[in-house]
Amino acid sequence: MQTSSRVTMQQSSELPMLQELQSLLTAERAERARLQKELELRDCALDAASTHFMIIDVSQQEWRIVYVNRAICERHGYTVAELLGQSPSLLVCEEKSAAALERVSEAVLRGTNVSVEMEARRKDHTTFSFGMTMTPIRTAPHGVNHYLCVGADITARLAQERAQRQLQEQLYNEMQERERMAIELRLAQKLESVGRLAAGIAHEINTPIQYVGDSVSFLQSAETDLAKLRTEYRRAIGRLVDHEPAQSVLPELEALESNLDLEFLSHEIPKAFERTLEGVERVAGIVRAMKEFAHPDSAQHNYADLNHALSTTLTVARTEYKYHAVVETRFGELPQVSCNVGELNQVFLNLIVNAAHALAESGKDASTGRITIVTAAAGDQVTISIADNGCGIPQENLEKVFDPFFTTKPVGRGTGQGLAIARSIVAEKHGGRIDVHSVVGSGTTFTLHLPVKGQSAAEAP
Ligand SMILES: Nc1ncnc2c1ncn2[C@@H]1O[C@H](COP(=O)(O)OP(=O)(O)OP(=O)(O)O)[C@@H](O)[C@H]1O
Ligand SMILES: [Mg+2]
Repeated sequence: MQTSSRVTMQQSSELPMLQELQSLLTAERAERARLQKELELRDCALDAASTHFMIIDVSQQEWRIVYVNRAICERHGYTVAELLGQSPSLLVCEEKSAAALERVSEAVLRGTNVSVEMEARRKDHTTFSFGMTMTPIRTAPHGVNHYLCVGADITARLAQERAQRQLQEQLYNEMQERERMAIELRLAQKLESVGRLAAGIAHEINTPIQYVGDSVSFLQSAETDLAKLRTEYRRAIGRLVDHEPAQSVLPELEALESNLDLEFLSHEIPKAFERTLEGVERVAGIVRAMKEFAHPDSAQHNYADLNHALSTTLTVARTEYKYHAVVETRFGELPQVSCNVGELNQVFLNLIVNAAHALAESGKDASTGRITIVTAAAGDQVTISIADNGCGIPQENLEKVFDPFFTTKPVGRGTGQGLAIARSIVAEKHGGRIDVHSVVGSGTTFTLHLPVKGQSAAEAP
């Protein structure tokens, strides 16, 4: 009886402990089930993502894959089981990704993050471009045993970037081509104007050459006469040395002097030399201006005296305007301007020829026609205005005169390129602008505004 009562007492004291253990067990099972569910949820979430997730073990010499999500398996054509435990290099085309792999190794050695683009390899050995960021997983305070790799297929993005680059290149090439064509067009127009000016220049040179020729042949015949005189003078000196009386020697010399008109020769010979020098100087001036005007354009901008450039252009264009206008120049004091002076000469020529044509059209001649060229410095700019009192431009054409190929002139006299080219040179090449003001029947003024420091100054804020 005593024994049975002791057992019952023992049983009654163990019961709460048992119950406690049971409830602990139940709680743990519930916690495990909860954790299992949470893990499954995380796996599902990672498998649902299109981003590639992979965890690799880097604790050993040979790295191993310890986790891959579905996206990575599908993209590479493997099952999860085929990848787990394998080296991650299985997924990389090592020949095409050497530099990226080197960066990955360095980062893992240092335990740092790394982002790389590499060529990935599928099970069937085909490849695709792949972008990936590797982040160390720090489970212990020291050392990194695992890396999380998050990546995506970037083939489409790279293709898009490539297409964009190609498009940009194409655009750049087209712009270069357009620029080249614009240069050729400007050159062609310049050559055309030089060709047109050539006939006039030949005429301009011919006039002084003619009077140089006349003066030189006069000097030649004068020299023949003077040589005769010299011979007679020498002979007379001999006769005087031989004590022949002067009265018999001098009359002969006087007769010869008056016969050869020594008075006239003494008067005219210096004038003939002057005319010759003047003629030679004029020809040299025209040739110099022509050389300066036609100076081959270099792309470089240099500092130039635009008053001098205008004078040069007026010299070469003289035959274009001399029958229809007198040119008045009012040159202000200008600083040297950073420009391509060859191109600006072409602008001046186009404006001067247009003025001459407008004067011819309104029936003006050298006594009534006038071209006025005024230059002035205004702050960091210079202005050059070229005005004529010609036919003027009707209001409805004012908008169009700068359009390429707009012309009111008959074939052979104009192609409508002059002002378009002038505007492109002034605005695009020199950061300046051209204004036009015109009154039909009264005349037209074109005004150029050019920054002294050239294009770069115009672009500065
Ligand atoms: N000073 C001016 N007076 C009157 N009309 C003008 C003047 N300058 C230009 N124009 C008008 O503007 C048009 C276009 O001029 P632009 O210089 O571009 O071409 P173009 O002179 O006709 O031919 P190109 O210069 O190619 O030989 C001219 O045809 C003319 O009608
Ligand atoms: Mg013109």
